[in-house]
Amino acid sequence: MRLLSTLLPATCALALVVDPTAGHSIDSVALSSIRRSSVFSRVSSFSWLRKQSPILISLPDAAQDSDFASWLSLQSVRSFEGILANIGPDGANVAGQNVSPGVVVASPSHDHPNYFYHWVRDGAITMRALVDEYEKSGNASVKELIDAYVDNVRSTQWTSNPSGQFGRGGLGEPKFEVDGKPFVGTWGRPQRDGPALRAITLILYARTLQHRGASIDSLRYLYDLIKPDLEYVSKFWASPGFDLWEEQQGLHFFTAMVQFKALLLGQEIASNFSDEGAARWYHIQANGLKQFLLSFWDEERGYLIETLASPRSGLDAALLLGAIHGGSETVFPIHSDMIITTLQALVADMRARYPINEQDSYDSNSFPTAVGIGRYPEDVYSGGDLGNSELGNPWFLCTATVAHTLYGLVEHLALSNSGLIISNLTADFYLPFISPTPVMEPHYCDFSATAIWSRSAAMLGFMPGSRETEQVISNIFDYADGFLKIVKKHADAEGNMSEQFDRQTGFMRGARQLTWSSESVLGAINMRKRAVEAIEKRRAYFQRF
Ligand code: NOJ
Ligand code: NOJ
Repeated sequence: MRLLSTLLPATCALALVVDPTAGHSIDSVALSSIRRSSVFSRVSSFSWLRKQSPILISLPDAAQDSDFASWLSLQSVRSFEGILANIGPDGANVAGQNVSPGVVVASPSHDHPNYFYHWVRDGAITMRALVDEYEKSGNASVKELIDAYVDNVRSTQWTSNPSGQFGRGGLGEPKFEVDGKPFVGTWGRPQRDGPALRAITLILYARTLQHRGASIDSLRYLYDLIKPDLEYVSKFWASPGFDLWEEQQGLHFFTAMVQFKALLLGQEIASNFSDEGAARWYHIQANGLKQFLLSFWDEERGYLIETLASPRSGLDAALLLGAIHGGSETVFPIHSDMIITTLQALVADMRARYPINEQDSYDSNSFPTAVGIGRYPEDVYSGGDLGNSELGNPWFLCTATVAHTLYGLVEHLALSNSGLIISNLTADFYLPFISPTPVMEPHYCDFSATAIWSRSAAMLGFMPGSRETEQVISNIFDYADGFLKIVKKHADAEGNMSEQFDRQTGFMRGARQLTWSSESVLGAINMRKRAVEAIEKRRAYFQRF
């Protein structure tokens, strides 16, 4: 939190307190010398809107593009099926290939590249999607798959492997053979996000079962699996390991974010099981991690970096994945300024990086357009045999991740009653969505002349219901759709998605029918549904006036 109001020069009219790691929070706003009518004044609830003249919010309407709308509903089913097809023992793509029950195969591809393994990360993320589905539908066959995964977690945790054994580092092992045996080849290990992701999935499963009537005592078998993973996370979060892309040894944002979330949820489940000592310990470690996470902000570059002390630029789709899988309301939620400005920098890099993005870079109304997104600028992995590097390509899951993040932002803005707050940090992101582009009028409040000026201080605000605010919500929604339209363009007619699509030709590359591609597109489509609901709520609210 930066408290600017008391330190600002007296001539400065607009004083906001904004915590850029969290959402927007407005503490005090004084407007005496600001003439711009739509710069917002103190906002405490929607009710003051009645004072506004009626506004027509043009809100996105999927029906305008029926082709895309029908693709979305079809693709959400196909993505779900794409996930099921890769789960052992009977999934359509893996049946008869000795895959143990509950094992999530990363891709049915056996060579160029061989992804016929059970990655702990991919498995946990995918099972999380099934838990979410089970929470909504109560579908018994989905539950069966999750229960098989749970049994598999038990045997995986106890399988000695090159990272160690149970209780001695073994939980950091990133991948296993599909029949449950350890993978003994050389690999980037340990990877410390795995236990955290697995704990998150299992904790949310326990929660769902409780919602559906299970007694806490009947769920102790789950806590017995969750606790070793939480212990691992709580003891090793400060130790370096390999990143989610399995390449760099170090300390990583994605890993730390999911570890933080695991401990946050862990604290809660531990006290539900009256394991008070553990709850306290997870709480203390989560606080440490929360502080540590701030060190990933690079003030000079103006965005978050994925790996500390790395020679890379630091830009990485993993930063957004960290917010999606590990963010919480107070620590880097997907709509926070630092995440959004990072998204902006990543997209700008990717736009210029891949030849296929050129054709997608302009549109008729001059709003920003979506492009294909790769993992990170320096990526040279082209999806084939390992060690045979050329140049990286855009990935389905990274492109879907940008869409997911933007839908999350739209949901947040649509549900918010505080209007639109544009900080110096996010001006480059938001202003292009307002037409005509507002001129920043720094003479109103030239924070840059003061010693405490920070890029993260708020500088411009628009009221809810103002043309600017509503335009931004609607235009960002369309922008997000653009990223899913890129996915649509490169997926095949059956909705299959490999890992990558070619930077020159757009054709699919890399491991075919990648489970994580399906999961990420399903996740983005589900977030889109939430954004649409939030927009409809907003529209209904405004229509009352
Ligand atoms: C395989 C890893 O899974 C992938 O992330 C990496 O880019 C390649 N190896 C090349 O190192
Ligand atoms: C390579 C990716 O870099 C890694 O994140 C993933 O776990 C594996 N492929 C399996 O999909």
